Amino acid sequence: MKVLSVFGTRPEAVKMAPVIKCLQAHPEIESHVCVTGQHREMLDQVLEIFDIVPDYDLDIMKPNQSLSHITGAVLVEVEALLLKEKYDWLLVQGDTTTVMAASLAAFYQKVAVGHIEAGLRTYNNYQPFPEEANRRVTDTIANLLFAPTEQAQTHLLEEKIGEEKILVTGNTVVDALQYILANLAGGEQIEMEMKEGARLVLVTAHRRENFGEPLVQICQAIREIALEMGEKVHFLYPVHLNPNVQEVAYRELADIENVTLAEPLAYKAFLYWMSQADLILTDSGGVQEEATTMAKRLFILRETTERPEAVSSGYAQLIGTDKERIKKELREFLVGDMWVSGEMTDVFGDGKASERIVEALLSYRPVLG
Ligand code: UD1
Ligand code: UDP
Repeated sequence: MKVLSVFGTRPEAVKMAPVIKCLQAHPEIESHVCVTGQHREMLDQVLEIFDIVPDYDLDIMKPNQSLSHITGAVLVEVEALLLKEKYDWLLVQGDTTTVMAASLAAFYQKVAVGHIEAGLRTYNNYQPFPEEANRRVTDTIANLLFAPTEQAQTHLLEEKIGEEKILVTGNTVVDALQYILANLAGGEQIEMEMKEGARLVLVTAHRRENFGEPLVQICQAIREIALEMGEKVHFLYPVHLNPNVQEVAYRELADIENVTLAEPLAYKAFLYWMSQADLILTDSGGVQEEATTMAKRLFILRETTERPEAVSSGYAQLIGTDKERIKKELREFLVGDMWVSGEMTDVFGDGKASERIVEALLSYRPVLG
């Protein structure tokens, strides 16, 4: 059986890596990897840490690229690849524009699509934008849908997607996390002068719907709390390379002693700092899952989440992007009792999702017409 895994951004690479390891180890499978290069540096960081060498690299990234550019380039280039080589499955993960466009190219060529992390929903196409629409298009096309949780499976069944096409696997992010944590010796050094006893808050923010005013509010809340609480708190913010994020983060936060702005961290270093953090502040999807798995307290900087399991498990809280609300929640957290992380949780999976996915690809016969 011949499988082509297609991905393009940092989070897809993290969540696809354990699946690729599993595919490569299977004697009956010929596994090929195609990266679109929707991300460049942030993708390459992950490929390196998991030691994955792509067979094809479409290298499509342009500075401040548009959604239409990504869609067009991926559609045309993946189609060319599918015309050149015959695959039994095209495998995608998540909800980026790479995922949506690669699935569409496979659909047009009648190549079966396996969608990892199917069934996540907010039912609002603008939150997150454009990911909600991307994942719904991909789920419509997919021949096998790997739902990470029971909740995701329920969404798919409600949308009348055939039961026989859906498998609950757990999220492959847990497989990736376990793989790295097993080898997480010591911390990765970054330049950071943190006062003894300060509480560490790890921050990430990059969503398109938060560009402009919401991101300004997030940064100003961090700025004002950092100044107000002084030595009691230290913020570490590895800044996403999107120019819309870089510009605001460095303008608002570069000059504050107890805020460290950093380049995007290599995955292993990021997990290390996550393990050290007292609190995580994020609008990321993957970080919500990882923080919950690591039993960390998490404030979600969004109005809604397609990962309600993080909230119902008690680890995460949806706090939005209003400056005063973020400041209030931060103040309460920082003066309250210290949060002590417990054991790892299995809210998002048990670390065996990749094995289940590979077995299903081998045994399922897709109907293509
Ligand atoms: C993309 C995904 C989003 C995902 C996020 C993960 C889409 C539409 N968006 O958003 O779903 O949550 O990745 O991080 O699919 N850049 C670099 N180097 C990099 C990466 C990005 O310079 O390694 C800069 C480039 O100027 C690029 C811009 O960031 O044009 C935007 O990248 P893009 O992939 O379009 O959007 P993201 O905001 O990263
Ligand atoms: N991540 C990383 N370095 C960083 C920030 C995040 O390796 O500096 C990892 C994080 O652990 C998670 C993934 O990147 O696995 C999430 O990517 P991102 O937030 O860009 O995308 P999303 O999950 O929101 O689509």
